[in-house]
Amino acid sequence: MYLLIFGPPGAGKGTQSLLIAGRLGIKHLSTGEVLRKAVEDETELGKKAKEIIESGSLVSDEIMVGIIYDALKNGEMKNGFILDGFPRTLKQAAALDVLLSELGFPPVKVINIHVDEDELVKRMLGRGRKDDTEDTIKHRLKVYREQTMPVNSHYLKKSIVFNIEGNGTIEEINDRILKMLKSC
Ligand code: AP5
Ligand code: MG
Repeated sequence: MYLLIFGPPGAGKGTQSLLIAGRLGIKHLSTGEVLRKAVEDETELGKKAKEIIESGSLVSDEIMVGIIYDALKNGEMKNGFILDGFPRTLKQAAALDVLLSELGFPPVKVINIHVDEDELVKRMLGRGRKDDTEDTIKHRLKVYREQTMPVNSHYLKKSIVFNIEGNGTIEEINDRILKMLKSC
Protein backbone atom coordinates (compact mmCIF):
# COMPACT_ATOMS: atom_id res chain seq x y z
CA MET A 1 0.00 0.00 0.00
CA TYR A 2 1.06 3.54 -0.72
CA LEU A 3 -0.13 5.83 2.04
CA LEU A 4 0.11 9.42 3.25
CA ILE A 5 -0.74 10.24 6.85
CA PHE A 6 -2.04 13.71 7.63
CA GLY A 7 -3.01 15.54 10.74
CA PRO A 8 -1.96 18.43 12.93
CA PRO A 9 1.14 18.39 15.14
CA GLY A 10 0.62 15.85 17.92
CA ALA A 11 -2.20 14.00 16.12
CA GLY A 12 -0.34 10.69 16.37
CA LYS A 13 1.02 10.50 12.81
CA GLY A 14 4.36 9.07 13.94
CA THR A 15 2.80 6.71 16.49
CA GLN A 16 0.26 5.29 14.05
CA SER A 17 2.68 5.19 11.09
CA LEU A 18 5.05 2.91 12.98
CA LEU A 19 2.23 0.50 13.82
CA ILE A 20 0.83 0.51 10.29
CA ALA A 21 4.25 0.12 8.67
CA GLY A 22 5.00 -2.85 10.94
CA ARG A 23 1.65 -4.46 10.26
CA LEU A 24 1.70 -4.00 6.48
CA GLY A 25 5.44 -4.46 5.99
CA ILE A 26 5.86 -1.11 4.29
CA LYS A 27 8.48 1.62 4.67
CA HIS A 28 7.76 4.49 7.11
CA LEU A 29 9.32 7.83 6.22
CA SER A 30 8.88 10.76 8.63
CA THR A 31 10.35 13.95 7.20
CA GLY A 32 10.46 15.43 10.71
CA GLU A 33 12.60 12.49 11.85
CA VAL A 34 14.92 12.82 8.85
CA LEU A 35 15.44 16.48 9.77
CA ARG A 36 15.92 15.83 13.49
CA LYS A 37 18.52 13.15 12.71
CA ALA A 38 20.34 15.58 10.38
CA VAL A 39 20.40 18.18 13.18
CA GLU A 40 21.76 15.60 15.62
CA ASP A 41 24.46 14.51 13.13
CA GLU A 42 25.28 18.16 12.35
CA THR A 43 25.12 17.58 8.59
CA GLU A 44 24.75 20.43 6.08
CA LEU A 45 21.00 19.74 6.00
CA GLY A 46 20.89 19.75 9.79
CA LYS A 47 22.66 23.10 10.01
CA LYS A 48 20.16 24.62 7.58
CA ALA A 49 17.14 23.09 9.29
CA LYS A 50 17.95 23.46 13.01
CA GLU A 51 16.59 26.94 13.69
CA ILE A 52 13.60 26.47 11.41
CA ILE A 53 12.48 23.28 13.16
CA GLU A 54 12.99 24.76 16.59
CA SER A 55 10.87 27.79 15.65
CA GLY A 56 8.09 25.57 14.26
CA SER A 57 8.19 27.02 10.74
CA LEU A 58 8.59 24.93 7.60
CA VAL A 59 11.84 23.97 5.91
CA SER A 60 11.89 25.01 2.22
CA ASP A 61 9.89 23.03 -0.32
CA GLU A 62 13.02 22.57 -2.42
CA ILE A 63 14.90 20.81 0.39
CA MET A 64 11.91 18.67 1.38
CA VAL A 65 11.11 17.56 -2.17
CA GLY A 66 14.79 16.64 -2.60
CA ILE A 67 14.60 14.35 0.46
CA ILE A 68 11.49 12.60 -0.86
CA TYR A 69 12.93 12.32 -4.37
CA ASP A 70 16.03 10.55 -3.03
CA ALA A 71 13.93 8.14 -0.96
CA LEU A 72 11.55 7.31 -3.82
CA LYS A 73 14.40 6.81 -6.28
CA ASN A 74 16.60 4.54 -4.20
CA GLY A 75 14.14 1.65 -4.30
CA GLU A 76 13.36 1.38 -0.57
CA MET A 77 9.75 2.53 -1.09
CA LYS A 78 9.03 0.23 -4.04
CA ASN A 79 6.93 -2.26 -2.09
CA GLY A 80 4.85 0.27 -0.21
CA PHE A 81 5.30 3.32 1.99
CA ILE A 82 3.69 5.56 4.51
CA LEU A 83 4.80 9.19 4.26
CA ASP A 84 4.46 11.03 7.57
CA GLY A 85 4.77 14.83 7.54
CA PHE A 86 4.97 15.17 3.76
CA PRO A 87 3.51 16.82 1.72
CA ARG A 88 2.92 19.83 3.93
CA THR A 89 2.34 22.57 1.34
CA LEU A 90 0.48 22.67 -1.97
CA LYS A 91 3.83 22.95 -3.78
CA GLN A 92 5.07 19.77 -2.09
CA ALA A 93 1.82 17.99 -3.02
CA ALA A 94 2.16 19.01 -6.67
CA ALA A 95 5.80 17.90 -6.73
CA LEU A 96 4.89 14.55 -5.17
CA ASP A 97 2.23 13.95 -7.84
CA VAL A 98 4.83 14.43 -10.56
CA LEU A 99 7.48 12.28 -8.83
CA LEU A 100 5.10 9.39 -8.17
CA SER A 101 3.80 9.36 -11.69
CA GLU A 102 7.26 9.68 -13.29
CA LEU A 103 8.63 6.87 -11.14
CA GLY A 104 5.63 4.62 -11.84
CA PHE A 105 4.07 4.44 -8.34
CA PRO A 106 0.34 3.69 -8.01
CA PRO A 107 -2.06 6.34 -6.65
CA VAL A 108 -1.79 7.04 -2.91
CA LYS A 109 -4.43 6.72 -0.20
CA VAL A 110 -4.62 9.35 2.51
CA ILE A 111 -5.22 8.82 6.23
CA ASN A 112 -6.38 12.09 7.79
CA ILE A 113 -6.37 12.08 11.60
CA HIS A 114 -8.60 14.55 13.49
CA VAL A 115 -7.86 15.47 17.12
CA ASP A 116 -9.18 18.34 19.28
CA GLU A 117 -6.71 21.16 19.74
CA ASP A 118 -6.70 20.94 23.57
CA GLU A 119 -5.73 17.28 23.35
CA LEU A 120 -2.97 18.03 20.80
CA VAL A 121 -1.39 20.61 23.10
CA LYS A 122 -1.64 18.26 26.08
CA ARG A 123 0.07 15.44 24.15
CA MET A 124 2.92 17.61 22.90
CA LEU A 125 3.59 19.28 26.25
CA GLY A 126 3.69 15.79 27.77
CA ARG A 127 6.26 14.66 25.21
CA GLY A 128 8.73 17.54 25.56
CA ARG A 129 10.54 17.49 22.20
CA LYS A 130 12.66 20.63 21.54
CA ASP A 131 9.82 22.13 19.46
CA ASP A 132 7.20 21.23 22.09
CA THR A 133 7.24 24.51 24.03
CA GLU A 134 3.95 26.39 24.42
CA ASP A 135 4.91 29.19 21.99
CA THR A 136 6.32 26.86 19.35
CA ILE A 137 3.28 24.59 19.54
CA LYS A 138 1.03 27.61 18.96
CA HIS A 139 3.10 28.55 15.92
CA ARG A 140 3.15 24.97 14.55
CA LEU A 141 -0.65 24.82 14.79
CA LYS A 142 -0.93 28.14 12.93
CA VAL A 143 1.46 26.94 10.21
CA TYR A 144 -0.61 23.75 9.95
CA ARG A 145 -3.88 25.68 9.51
CA GLU A 146 -2.44 28.11 6.98
CA GLN A 147 -0.08 26.00 4.90
CA THR A 148 -0.93 22.35 5.39
CA MET A 149 -4.72 22.19 5.69
CA PRO A 150 -5.14 23.26 2.02
CA VAL A 151 -3.25 20.08 1.07
CA ASN A 152 -6.25 18.07 2.31
CA SER A 153 -8.47 19.56 -0.40
CA HIS A 154 -5.85 18.72 -3.01
CA TYR A 155 -6.25 15.03 -2.11
CA LEU A 156 -10.00 15.15 -1.58
CA LYS A 157 -10.28 16.00 -5.28
CA LYS A 158 -8.18 13.12 -6.52
CA SER A 159 -7.54 10.36 -4.00
CA ILE A 160 -9.14 8.17 -1.47
CA VAL A 161 -9.13 10.05 1.85
CA PHE A 162 -9.91 8.22 5.09
CA ASN A 163 -11.00 10.58 7.85
CA ILE A 164 -10.08 9.07 11.20
CA GLU A 165 -11.33 10.22 14.60
CA GLY A 166 -8.02 10.51 16.48
CA ASN A 167 -9.27 10.93 20.07
CA GLY A 168 -9.01 7.70 22.06
CA THR A 169 -6.28 5.24 22.91
CA ILE A 170 -3.45 4.45 20.51
CA GLU A 171 -4.86 0.92 20.02
CA GLU A 172 -8.40 2.17 19.33
CA ILE A 173 -7.17 4.56 16.68
CA ASN A 174 -4.97 1.91 15.13
CA ASP A 175 -7.96 -0.46 14.88
CA ARG A 176 -10.01 2.28 13.19
CA ILE A 177 -7.28 2.88 10.62
CA LEU A 178 -6.71 -0.80 9.83
CA LYS A 179 -10.46 -1.41 9.46
CA MET A 180 -10.77 1.53 7.08
CA LEU A 181 -7.82 0.33 5.01
CA LYS A 182 -9.26 -3.18 4.80
CA SER A 183 -12.58 -1.83 3.58
CA CYS A 184 -11.14 -0.48 0.34
P1 AP5 B 1 7.15 16.63 12.36
O1 AP5 B 1 8.15 15.80 13.02
O2 AP5 B 1 6.40 16.10 11.21
O3 AP5 B 1 6.16 17.16 13.49
P2 AP5 B 1 4.58 17.49 13.52
O4 AP5 B 1 3.83 17.42 12.26
O5 AP5 B 1 4.54 18.77 14.26
O6 AP5 B 1 4.01 16.31 14.28
P3 AP5 B 1 4.52 15.58 15.55
O7 AP5 B 1 5.66 14.69 15.18
O8 AP5 B 1 4.73 16.55 16.67
O9 AP5 B 1 3.22 14.78 15.94
P4 AP5 B 1 2.67 13.41 15.38
O10 AP5 B 1 1.41 13.64 14.65
O11 AP5 B 1 3.74 12.60 14.70
O12 AP5 B 1 2.28 12.74 16.76
P5 AP5 B 1 3.07 11.65 17.61
O13 AP5 B 1 2.79 10.29 17.11
O14 AP5 B 1 4.49 12.05 17.79
O15 AP5 B 1 7.83 17.99 11.88
C1 AP5 B 1 8.68 18.72 12.74
C2 AP5 B 1 9.24 19.93 12.01
O16 AP5 B 1 10.06 19.51 10.91
C3 AP5 B 1 8.20 20.87 11.38
O17 AP5 B 1 7.69 21.81 12.31
C4 AP5 B 1 9.03 21.51 10.26
O18 AP5 B 1 9.86 22.51 10.77
C5 AP5 B 1 9.89 20.36 9.77
N1 AP5 B 1 9.26 19.59 8.67
C6 AP5 B 1 8.90 18.27 8.70
N2 AP5 B 1 8.36 17.89 7.53
C7 AP5 B 1 8.36 19.00 6.75
C8 AP5 B 1 7.91 19.26 5.42
N3 AP5 B 1 7.33 18.29 4.68
N4 AP5 B 1 8.05 20.52 4.94
C9 AP5 B 1 8.63 21.48 5.67
N5 AP5 B 1 9.09 21.32 6.93
C10 AP5 B 1 8.96 20.08 7.46
O19 AP5 B 1 2.29 11.83 19.01
C11 AP5 B 1 2.47 12.98 19.80
C12 AP5 B 1 2.56 12.58 21.28
O20 AP5 B 1 1.28 12.06 21.67
C13 AP5 B 1 3.56 11.46 21.58
O21 AP5 B 1 4.14 11.67 22.83
C14 AP5 B 1 2.68 10.18 21.56
O22 AP5 B 1 3.21 9.17 22.38
C15 AP5 B 1 1.36 10.72 22.09
N6 AP5 B 1 0.19 10.03 21.55
C16 AP5 B 1 0.01 9.58 20.27
N7 AP5 B 1 -1.21 9.04 20.13
C17 AP5 B 1 -1.84 9.18 21.33
C18 AP5 B 1 -3.11 8.82 21.81
N8 AP5 B 1 -4.03 8.21 21.04
N9 AP5 B 1 -3.43 9.11 23.09
C19 AP5 B 1 -2.52 9.73 23.91
N10 AP5 B 1 -1.28 10.08 23.52
C20 AP5 B 1 -0.94 9.82 22.23
MG1 MG C 1 5.72 12.97 14.16
